[in-house]
Amino acid sequence: MRFGSIRVRLTAWYLMMLALGLGVFGVGSWFAMRASVFHAIEEELADRIRDVKTFLQDQTPFRSKIDIRDELSEHSVLGLGGDLFQICDEQGGWLYRSSALESGLVPIRLPSQVGDQPVYENLTVRGAPVRFATARVVIEGHPYTIQVAEPLEEFYEALERFGLMLWISVPLLLIGAGLGGYLISRRALKPVDLITTAAESISINNLADRLEVPKTSDELQRLSETLNRMLSRLDISVQKMSQLTADASHELRAPVSLIRTTAELAVHEARTNTEYHGDMMQILAEAERTSRLIDSLLLLARADAGEGGLQHELTDVSTSIREAMEQGWSLAAGKRIELTANLNSNPIVVRGDGEALRRLSFILIENAIKYTPEGGRVHVRLEGSHAVVTIEVTDSGIGIVESDQPHIFDRFWRADKVRSRSIGGAGLGLSIARWIVDQHHGSIEVQSQPGQGSTFTVKIPLAEIPAPLGQP
Ligand SMILES: Nc1ncnc2c1ncn2[C@@H]1O[C@H](COP(=O)(O)OP(=O)(O)OP(=O)(O)O)[C@@H](O)[C@H]1O
Ligand SMILES: [Mg+2]
Repeated sequence: MRFGSIRVRLTAWYLMMLALGLGVFGVGSWFAMRASVFHAIEEELADRIRDVKTFLQDQTPFRSKIDIRDELSEHSVLGLGGDLFQICDEQGGWLYRSSALESGLVPIRLPSQVGDQPVYENLTVRGAPVRFATARVVIEGHPYTIQVAEPLEEFYEALERFGLMLWISVPLLLIGAGLGGYLISRRALKPVDLITTAAESISINNLADRLEVPKTSDELQRLSETLNRMLSRLDISVQKMSQLTADASHELRAPVSLIRTTAELAVHEARTNTEYHGDMMQILAEAERTSRLIDSLLLLARADAGEGGLQHELTDVSTSIREAMEQGWSLAAGKRIELTANLNSNPIVVRGDGEALRRLSFILIENAIKYTPEGGRVHVRLEGSHAVVTIEVTDSGIGIVESDQPHIFDRFWRADKVRSRSIGGAGLGLSIARWIVDQHHGSIEVQSQPGQGSTFTVKIPLAEIPAPLGQP
């Protein structure tokens, strides 16, 4: 039993509350019982005083004091006034005194010192507790003090028995409830132990394993389902990461081994200057390709780690596109491709990163040029309306078959692995493009007809620029 465990704490709290409740209940019911018995005794005593008064009123006109005393003693045996009962007159003379009080143990007050309403008090008669009621009655113009009493011993004994019963039953009840509560909470929380053990056994090597879901339709079921969903997400991320690492090593191996063999040949064989130059050109091209690939990989790795480091400032999209176009000119010229643009002269402002938007535009323009045969056309259109900026790159190139279209944004995906390699693509451009678009809360789509060309459409929300003061 660990004190840090929920079930022990739960039981302890439950017991504390129960003990408090039972304590209040026990003390309360003890006092309530005492008060109600006192009340019953007092009513009984008041009744007796009334009976004695009626008796005296009936008898006094016709009898002497001696006769009345005799009558009273006879009637007290039958119940009138009980066996603890005394009456005195205005001078303190005894009219009647039951035998139990005869030794004068209980002094009586004169009628002038007593009110008409009974006064109650607890006194001790021969060592035993007794409750007395004292009241004044006036008979035939003469005041008398009547005192009646009821022994409390039995009542106190009953109260003591009741108290004892509480002292025994409350702790027993608490022990029972504590045990029951502990067992119930242990049963209820057992699935938590199962989840803990199962979760402990899951590591990066068996991320495909899932926790057993208790079919209890409660928080625990939801907890294990949530944990399972989390495991699924982690599993997918880890799979993606290992896929990326595998693809990246594979991609890097080719240029590095090419650089190596070219250099080895150059070192081991006698070469002319022209041949050396050719080798160096090839090494340079492969090195460039490798460093491009490493750049892209680094960018994606940072993006995965959630630290892409993009700016969130107001930036003009047309400037970014112009810069990308300038990079595209030489590529297009090399393939005699007509690269045209329809750019708005007004700035089109979004909240984001100008450099990333340039990169995005260049990825699309570069692809359009790369996958368009010589003599083709590439057109870039920019339009800002309805709170959205639309960037459209259309080419008259080879196009993408419909079944490939869902994959082109995947990392390292290329429609034609062999040909793409020869023109230098690793298959990362569009995945970087999609990441940049996501970072700008936009969307990217492709429409393409194989053999006819493709159109890539990017939509990014325009920045909300606060109106200058004084304008509506
Ligand atoms: N404009 C396009 N026309 C036809 N196919 C395209 C076009 N743009 C992309 N693709 C196809 O989508 C694939 C993925 O494009 P992506 O830009 O991601 O990679 P890549 O161009 O092959 O290499 P990288 O951009 O990393 O140098 C390309 O290999 C190509 O098959
Ligand atoms: Mg590309």
